[in-house]
Amino acid sequence: MNPELIIVNPQIEKHIALIQINRPKELNALNRQVMTEIRDALKAFDEDENVRVIILTGGEKVFAAGADIKQMADATAISMLSIDQFSTWDQIKKTKKPIIAVVSGFALGGGCELAMTCDMIVASETAQFGQPEINIGTMPGAGGTQRLTRAVGKALAMEMVLTGKFISAQEAHKVGLVNKVVPVEVLIKEAITLAKSIAQKSPIAVQLAKESVNKAFESSLDEGLQFERKNFYLTFASEDQKEGMAAFIEKRKAEFKGK
Ligand code: CAA
Repeated sequence: MNPELIIVNPQIEKHIALIQINRPKELNALNRQVMTEIRDALKAFDEDENVRVIILTGGEKVFAAGADIKQMADATAISMLSIDQFSTWDQIKKTKKPIIAVVSGFALGGGCELAMTCDMIVASETAQFGQPEINIGTMPGAGGTQRLTRAVGKALAMEMVLTGKFISAQEAHKVGLVNKVVPVEVLIKEAITLAKSIAQKSPIAVQLAKESVNKAFESSLDEGLQFERKNFYLTFASEDQKEGMAAFIEKRKAEFKGK
């Protein structure tokens, strides 16, 4: 990993890994190298059995100000197509373990899209979300028109995408884009508390449940219900399900092993 692009910590707390975007001078603009590093770190953590939850964050003043405009400015449609810039982003969606985006300051363009591609967002009171690509003669290209619309509804998504207006952390919370808003001083602590509460559960059940919630965005209700039902049945192949139910009956805390 290149620490001038991202900082990684496989164990910020037991079972919790951290990825921090680290290009403060460029406001954490997401150039191809940063996205490749994020992809590789996510892949490594997804394969590491000690990791159960991943936190993805930026700095206090900026989560990420979007794709790197300077890197893109001279691109042609064909160079974009052949580099397929956004293909590295597919790994975020492919990651089986939950990813919590921890956002302070600007989450704009690709930065907002990156946060939305994660499974949950914890924001500081200073966070601002926006899709300002329209101001530079283009439009969102890494999920903004799709994920924002699903998260906040057509009216607000259309306004944000067509006018480039930002919304505050409080508004983002009100419309369901973020899970919680906390003072910046306790942001990471709160995110770790949330991560810990997931890390204590069965990693197998967590993975299947995450997949099932995500399926809701990609299928009809009937297909989603069938998918959920099969994943529910599949949990019964795990030792963790036996342990979880035995612990409930014996009135003790369950010890989940991810088996
Ligand atoms: N790409 C490249 N460099 C960026 C950048 C970006 N997205 N955002 C900021 N920077 C750079 C600036 O060029 C500046 O560099 P220099 O010091 O070398 O001049 C430095 O970061 C600091 O930026 P500002 O001086 O502009 O800081 P500010 O506090 O006045 O403003 C801001 C902050 C409102 C975030 C402003 O920087 C801004 O509007 N940034 C661009 C936001 C944007 O349009 N994002 C969308 C990008 S396109 C995209 O993301 C496509 C997609 O769907 C994936």
